Amino acid sequence: MEFNIALLKGDGIGPEIVDSAVAVLEKTAVKFGHKFNFTPYLIGGCAIDSTGLPLPQETVDGCLASDSVLLGAVGGPKWDDQPGDKRPEKALLGIRSALGLFTNLRPATLYPALRAASPLKDEIVGDGFDIMIVRELTGGIYFGDRGYREGNYGREAYDTEAYSVTEIERIGRVAFDTAMKRNKRVTSIDKANVLESSRLWRKTMHALAEEYPEVEYSDMFVDNAAMQLVRNPRQFDVIVTSNMFGDILSDEASQITGSIGMLASASLGASSRGMYEPIHGSAPDIAGQNKANPIATILSGAMMLRYSFGLAKEAEAIERAVDKVLNDGWRTADLIGTGSGAPLTCTEMTEKILGAL
Ligand code: IPM
Ligand code: MG
Repeated sequence: MEFNIALLKGDGIGPEIVDSAVAVLEKTAVKFGHKFNFTPYLIGGCAIDSTGLPLPQETVDGCLASDSVLLGAVGGPKWDDQPGDKRPEKALLGIRSALGLFTNLRPATLYPALRAASPLKDEIVGDGFDIMIVRELTGGIYFGDRGYREGNYGREAYDTEAYSVTEIERIGRVAFDTAMKRNKRVTSIDKANVLESSRLWRKTMHALAEEYPEVEYSDMFVDNAAMQLVRNPRQFDVIVTSNMFGDILSDEASQITGSIGMLASASLGASSRGMYEPIHGSAPDIAGQNKANPIATILSGAMMLRYSFGLAKEAEAIERAVDKVLNDGWRTADLIGTGSGAPLTCTEMTEKILGAL
C-alpha cells in the first residue's frame, strides 16, 4: 500500500526524533512491501522564524492533503515572549482543530524492562498497568472564549470552559468503544462538584453508559484521580476526560511509566487521517545534542500504522522491536539507571531499533 505522510518536525528535539521515526517507518515499509511518501511542513517556532506565523496555511493544506501527519514538538524559550495567538503552541491547537482531531489517545503502559524507572513502589505497580487516556482535544477551556476585562479587582484575564452534549457524546463513544476492545472499564474524570460544564459532562456520560451495559462505568473527581494514579494505577483501564484535565493527567501517567520519553499519542477525528506525536515537548535544554529518547515518536509512528492505515502487524513489528531493545538493556539518558552501561544517543537508539526490526 502507498501512503502520504506530512511531517511536522517543529522545534527543539522535534527534528531529531521525527528523523528517527521516519527511519523506522521507512524500514517497516521495505520489510512489508509498502511505500510511504514523506513531505515536511513548517510548524511552531521555526515557522514563525521563516514566515512570521506559527501555523502557515501551506502547512494546514499539506496536512489536509495527506493520509496522516507525524509531529515532533513545538515551542522553546526563543518564542516565549510572543503574544498568545502567535505562540508556537497556538499552532498545535490550530492544526488539531483544522484537522477536526477531537480525540487524543494517550496510552500509558509500564514496560516490565523499565519498572526500575517508575517512581512507584513495587507493591503499587504489581505486575504492571495499562491505561488508555482518552482526552477530548478540540473543546473546553483551550478553545473557549477568552480575553481581558474589568473585574472587581481591576483589569483581569479570563478563559472559559464550555462543553456541548454533542462534544461530550462523541468523545464518550470513543472511550466506551475503546473499552469494549480492552478490559471493559471506563472512568470518566471531571470536577462535577464545582463546574457546571463537568455536571453536563457527567450527566451525558451516564446516559451513554446505559448504551454499554457490558462496560463497568465510574466517575471520579479530577483531584482524586490525580491521587489515585499514583496510589493504585492498576484500577484504571480507559480514562475519559476533558482537554485540560487530560493534558495534566497524561503527564502524570507518563511519569509513573518511567519516562515521558516513552509515551506516544494519536489524535483522531471522523476520518482515518490522524496526527501522531510524542506527548513530551520540545526539550530545548537538550535540543541538537543527540540525547533525546526517540521511542515515543517511533511508537507514535506505530500508532499511525495501526489507527490510520490499518496496518496492525506492521505496528506490532515496531512495538516488538522497541520491546526487544529495552529488554536487551539499551537505554537513552532519560532512562539510565534502569539498564546497563552508558546511555545511547538518539541515533544509536534508533539504530538498535532498526536492527531489531
Ligand atoms: C500536549 C501539550 C500541548 C497541550 C501544549 C504544548 C499546547 O502539553 O500535547 O500535551 O497542552 O495540549
Ligand atoms: Mg501536555
